[in-house]
Amino acid sequence: MSVWHKHEIFEKNSIILVIGILVMISIGGLVEIAPLFYLKSTIEKTEGMRPYTPLELAGRNIYVREGCYLCHSQMVRPMRDELERYGPYSLAAESMYDHPFQWGSKRTGPDLARVGNKYSDDWHVAHLKDPRSVVPASIMPGYPFLAETPLDPYGISDHLKVNTYVGVPYTEEQVEAAKSDILAQAKPDSDEAEAFLERYPTAVVRDYDGNPAEVTEMDALVAYLQMLGTLVDFSIYDEKANLR
Ligand code: HEC
Repeated sequence: MSVWHKHEIFEKNSIILVIGILVMISIGGLVEIAPLFYLKSTIEKTEGMRPYTPLELAGRNIYVREGCYLCHSQMVRPMRDELERYGPYSLAAESMYDHPFQWGSKRTGPDLARVGNKYSDDWHVAHLKDPRSVVPASIMPGYPFLAETPLDPYGISDHLKVNTYVGVPYTEEQVEAAKSDILAQAKPDSDEAEAFLERYPTAVVRDYDGNPAEVTEMDALVAYLQMLGTLVDFSIYDEKANLR
């Protein structure tokens, strides 16, 4: 019997064929995936990355709740057209505190991984309330209710705590203060804002929605959008490699 005939046993018996396929796929999968769990360089060390502040995390929750990811990706791929349009390609480290990540798979609108600091807060507020007021041909839906909905700090401490279970390095103090911090980041000049900045020295305190009277869901969402892609200083990377 030649070596080819030995293959008959797989071709004539579907159960054995299925088992054979599973064995082969498992070996291939292990070889590809297992080393990633042990390599030190899977997530390269990147300066500047910090966990989300409570306000940004709340904004991120609103982003997920409203399904923004259905039309927007958050991952710049290492291809020339994307680098020229959006900026440096996304690093694994930039999503390391994302649970779940928001890479997305659909771009009805543009990628948002580098949208932070691209526009003013006022632009974002106007755009989110009524996209056509600033981009006449836009097909994005408006979210005017965000500006009228006070931000509910309920549960934010628990959310930080759950994040610590999956490896986000929030301190106990940050978890405990989350309820006050979530409002403090949108209240410049307040005592709470000072305490907040001690806990998150590189965060930005600002009245994001242009309404100092109350902290709304709009504050949270704009705070989140304005920090996207701004933590890593890409000017220190090889400029040619990033085609910038
Ligand atoms: C039905 C698809 C759709 C949904 C849902 C959607 N967008 Fe958009 N978005 C677009 C399109 C199309 C554009 C480009 C036109 C424009 O600027 O309005 C856009 C543009 C943007 C921009 C400007 C990006 C840039 O670089 O110019 C931001 C920021 C944005 N969207 C945020 C959001 C947020 C936040 C949400 C969820 C609250 C959201 N979008 C939901 C389709 C969508």
